[in-house]
Amino acid sequence: MIGQTFIFGKPVEGEYFTDRENESKRLAANFRGGVSTFLLSPRRWGKTSLVKKVMGEVESDTLKVVFVDVFKCKSPIEFAEALASAVLSQTASRVEEFMENAKAFLGRINLGINLSPDLASSFDIKLGLSDDKTDISNALNIPETIAKKKNIRLVVCIDEFQQIGEFTDSVYFQKQLRTVWQHQQNVTYCMFGSKKHMMEELFDTPEKAFFKFGDIIYLKTIPLSYWTEYISRKFEGAGKKISNGQIERICETVNYHSSYVQQLCWYVFLSSTDIVSSEDIDNAVLELILQNTALYESWTENLSAYQMRFLTAVADGINEGLSSAEVIGRYRLGTSANVVAVKKSLLDKNLVYTENKKVYLSDPVLGMWLRR
Ligand SMILES: Nc1ncnc2c1ncn2[C@@H]1O[C@H](COP(=O)(O)OP(=O)(O)OP(=O)(O)O)[C@@H](O)[C@H]1O
Ligand SMILES: [Mg+2]
Repeated sequence: MIGQTFIFGKPVEGEYFTDRENESKRLAANFRGGVSTFLLSPRRWGKTSLVKKVMGEVESDTLKVVFVDVFKCKSPIEFAEALASAVLSQTASRVEEFMENAKAFLGRINLGINLSPDLASSFDIKLGLSDDKTDISNALNIPETIAKKKNIRLVVCIDEFQQIGEFTDSVYFQKQLRTVWQHQQNVTYCMFGSKKHMMEELFDTPEKAFFKFGDIIYLKTIPLSYWTEYISRKFEGAGKKISNGQIERICETVNYHSSYVQQLCWYVFLSSTDIVSSEDIDNAVLELILQNTALYESWTENLSAYQMRFLTAVADGINEGLSSAEVIGRYRLGTSANVVAVKKSLLDKNLVYTENKKVYLSDPVLGMWLRR
């Protein structure tokens, strides 16, 4: 079978997955030990891949992991419904069991789509909940009810969790969630998302609903030694030769961003013959920027001139002191109050993130595109 050599832009597993050894151990220990976890990283660093891998490792007769993406949820009721339907469907072995449980624990069921008799793959169903408080709290209690009934422990993994920050009445709902969750004895939650700044807003100070609710894991980049093993194995497998120095150049070019390392490798792979040359890498870098241009245009088309100049400054490597007179003058950023507002708006758009008070572009290739 001819497999793809490098995979990017979607969760990876098996031979396409490298490292994450420490994070896997810690997450697995949390899942087994009943410790809820927040997992944060910029886009496409490998959160979903990591969670899915650990899911596969820890599942047993007495521990079941459920996965739900709440990216599309716009309100507490949609969130509660997504959670309840994921738990009901992913813990049921047959459609009948799913229906029975939905009826028994929600008091009603009003299914929006036809169910396939095969429950092996999870599916999305509308439970037809109403928007009142009882329905929401019933739905939020489904994980605990099911876990007790089946005499198992449950881990519920919630992708794009920062979405709840967007709901109207968000703060009230966050408090409600925390109250319900902290009384559940048999359920552990793992919340992850790529909007670091929005995720942090859920737990960063004592007033926040999820303050000290669980362990916090900041995903790091995968180090060079793992990439070297991975990338040379892939090239060698196809009869091509790439040097360690070239691998390092590839990783450095995209700041060790997991998905871009794999994407850039793919273009190097395509443009090279049996021995990779430095021109092959030059061409691949151009191709990487070209391939992403439409995306960056759409991200930036509605930005103000101030926002663009702020991004350009960060792309030029100015990670701190952005409101100093010198930087404001050089990049025409207006006033220091303006810089604060612009930074906040770009954080909200997830175009930049902060770490130790320094500002970074969420997307390293966007920086290359901006500098051109
Ligand atoms: N452990 C890994 N080993 C090798 N490549 C990886 C690994 N984790 C992630 N990648 C690369 O990053 C890409 C994105 O991975 P994944 O979808 O898991 O990230 P994510 O953080 O969940 O992304 P998003 O922010 O879009 O939800 C993968 O397609 C792959 O190219
Ligand atoms: Mg993901």
